Amino acid sequence: MVELKPMSVTASELPVSGIRRFFDVAAQMHDVISLGVGEPDFFTPWSIREAAIYSLERGQTTYTSNHGLLELRREIVKHIKKHYGVSYKADDEVLVTVGVSEGLDLAMRTLLDPGDEVLVPEPCYVSYKPCITLAGGRPIGVETTAAENFRITPAALEKHLTPRTKAILLGYPSNPTGATMPGPQMQEIVDFAVKHGLYLISDEIYDRLTYDGVHTCVSSLKGARERTILLNGFSKAYAMTGWRIGYVCAPREIVSIMTRIHSYTMLCAPTLGQKAALEALKTGEPEVVDMVAQYGQRRRLIVDGLNKIGLKCHMPEGAFYAFPSIASTGLTSEEFAEKLLYQERVAVVPGTAFGAGGQGHIRCSYATAIDKIEAALLRMKTFVESLAVKAS
Ligand SMILES: Cc1ncc(COP(=O)(O)O)c(C=O)c1O
Repeated sequence: MVELKPMSVTASELPVSGIRRFFDVAAQMHDVISLGVGEPDFFTPWSIREAAIYSLERGQTTYTSNHGLLELRREIVKHIKKHYGVSYKADDEVLVTVGVSEGLDLAMRTLLDPGDEVLVPEPCYVSYKPCITLAGGRPIGVETTAAENFRITPAALEKHLTPRTKAILLGYPSNPTGATMPGPQMQEIVDFAVKHGLYLISDEIYDRLTYDGVHTCVSSLKGARERTILLNGFSKAYAMTGWRIGYVCAPREIVSIMTRIHSYTMLCAPTLGQKAALEALKTGEPEVVDMVAQYGQRRRLIVDGLNKIGLKCHMPEGAFYAFPSIASTGLTSEEFAEKLLYQERVAVVPGTAFGAGGQGHIRCSYATAIDKIEAALLRMKTFVESLAVKAS
């Protein structure tokens, strides 16, 4: 019999997500407190769920336009204008996607030819580099450090610039570090992109989860709009991860190509999710404010607790992750996360899952109830003390 031909080398060589690998182990164990998951512990607000139920009752179960419901695109445009002062046209500058995940994939496929390079500040969200690779591009990690509050600088980008550099992929507020970029610092990045003719892809999924200062929307900055693919969605701010709705705002020429790909690969985002997203924009604001206030409380609790245990932790300005240093324990990130899981049954993610700059750190999600955070901190204290005893 003739041997079956091999599958795609590019796909087969993709690394397994460092988060998944860890959680498969944790899922088999009892009494684990997870600070690992990157999704809200809240239910989607009731008014949003109810709107979706009515929509189903009315039999709204067909495809929508490839672009997404026009009514939803109009609300997205209003929302962006209200919060960030940037104007987009609902007709041809907005595309409703299957989460930010699809928006990321479409952005890469739209911009990249084989071998094109994308600069990616690290540590970063686990999907960024694989998305670039799958589109035939080369992800070029640019390390950021705790000493610089995990903010990217033009000087760091410059070191990795080549004639093949096509774009910079930004994700602020950051998963996993919680870092944000104030306007003037982000403007420097935009100026760098302008100087070198680069596109900007800005994943702003955590925009509403900004606790200190205000969120900087990249396309609102001088010179940015015409080169920026703005990605956002409903998963985090509205606790809607399972509805799978995101959106892209970008100049018409870019959205037109993204929509072409989307129309072949996805047809449209889920109709039910789009109805829910529409309701979220119309009535969800008070619930967002409430959830953000609760994340804010948990943030102080976890950061104070980690620092007291001796795991130095900067105050994250956004998202819902603390990213403490575990360097004082002498363990690597993986050793720390693994031993903590087996000894004290607390699941965290090793910083190395997020690329360069992650070694010596762990990611602790505080999208978890206060009592669980408190219990996890107690267990972590016991764990860190046990290390100190062993060392002495
Ligand atoms: C930075 C970042 N971007 C995108 C996503 C995926 O978002 P969505 O649910 O909209 O696909 C996540 C999910 O954890 C994320 O953390």
